[in-house]
Amino acid sequence: MPENLSTQLKKYLPQPILKLVKDAGEKANELGQELYLVGGVIRDLLLGRANFDLDLVVEGNAIRLAQELAKGNQAKLIIHSRFGTAKINYANFSLDVATARRESYSQPGALPDVQPGAITDDLCRRDFSINAMALCLTPQRFGELIDLYHGKDDLDHRLIRILHPNSFIDDATRILRALRYEQRLGFELEARTAELLQRDAAMLDTVSGDRIRHELELILKENHPEQVLKRAEELGVINKLHSSFKSNGWLTERFEKVRQISKQTIPYPLYLCLLIYSLTNEENERFLSRLNFPKRPAQAMRHTLQLKTQLHSLAKPQLKPSDIYQSLHSYAPQAIQANALASESTIVSQHLQLYLAKLRYVKPLLNGEDLKRMGVPSGPRLGEILNVLHEARLNGEVRTRKEEERLVYSWRHTL
Ligand code: CTP
Repeated sequence: MPENLSTQLKKYLPQPILKLVKDAGEKANELGQELYLVGGVIRDLLLGRANFDLDLVVEGNAIRLAQELAKGNQAKLIIHSRFGTAKINYANFSLDVATARRESYSQPGALPDVQPGAITDDLCRRDFSINAMALCLTPQRFGELIDLYHGKDDLDHRLIRILHPNSFIDDATRILRALRYEQRLGFELEARTAELLQRDAAMLDTVSGDRIRHELELILKENHPEQVLKRAEELGVINKLHSSFKSNGWLTERFEKVRQISKQTIPYPLYLCLLIYSLTNEENERFLSRLNFPKRPAQAMRHTLQLKTQLHSLAKPQLKPSDIYQSLHSYAPQAIQANALASESTIVSQHLQLYLAKLRYVKPLLNGEDLKRMGVPSGPRLGEILNVLHEARLNGEVRTRKEEERLVYSWRHTL
């Protein structure tokens, strides 16, 4: 008899979500299809970790089922016909529905060839035993656990295990995924998995920059990314991201500080700027091009290294706020923040923080239109006066609109 987890599922899912998945099972049944909840949510249900990122797999036609589910539900349906998948967005929740599929890899690192299949096919193409479980949602079998690879035992023994010896060759991103789950869950790589991971580490070279970058992004979104990087170093994998990367105490301390200052937001770009902090410009350029970084984060990383070479000019204690502003206003804020965290000099850090917290927001109260109304003719001189006004405001020499006007009148006479 397969194990049944319906009681656990009913306790685990919030009532409205439970109702949605039950309705989905019934609807699939009416269409003569079997429906399953799969992947990470089963793992997290068994571990008692919250995860309402629900993936449904149907033996049949996912798009047809999703269309039925979205009807009359005020849900928004997004269909990806090419992949046979659909996303149903409800008011504050979404369901991913996919057709059960069979996959084969024509060559390592490539995306797989896909055909419709049974749930067993769909599970055997997955990464790790703990991610390869499914729960049936069809009414007669509601809650039935499908666990062909003993994922539940591996959860009990806290192990990350691949499903077959060629798993990392088929998809080398699993190397990075394995380390991410291992550290997130406080698990260990099963011995043979660890061996194969090291054997196949070079396969990461066959993976596109975009896919590696995506995995790095997922690592940096974990609660403690430095632990994943440390493990990647121990296993000789970190150099697949960049030959000069090192995970060390310095990085760990900085990452901890990043989390203290970031609070709500995920500090992904800032982590990146610290990750490349010890690289040379050339090394950084190789990293940016290997991982095909988009313009914005690439610029923040370049600025980080540029600013690092200019920090000496911010080490003087008597700098005026306007001098600090002039030195920093052309750099990306993450680059400034990264340098503030990285710099060993208290005075430099203070100047960088002052800019980030205050100076970058300072603007004169008067604008160009106000100046023209006050009789300053358009032209380069107007721009200069605005700059001087900005400086005076940064340095606290003018505080009110009246004081700014007085200053403009005094300069106007010198025109
Ligand atoms: N998967 C896989 N191989 C990959 C990526 C994903 O086998 N390279 C499968 C796994 O079964 C995984 C599921 O697809 O559970 C969903 O992938 P993803 O959303 O990345 O992971 P989750 O398991 O949902 O985990 P997380 O908590 O990290 O989101």
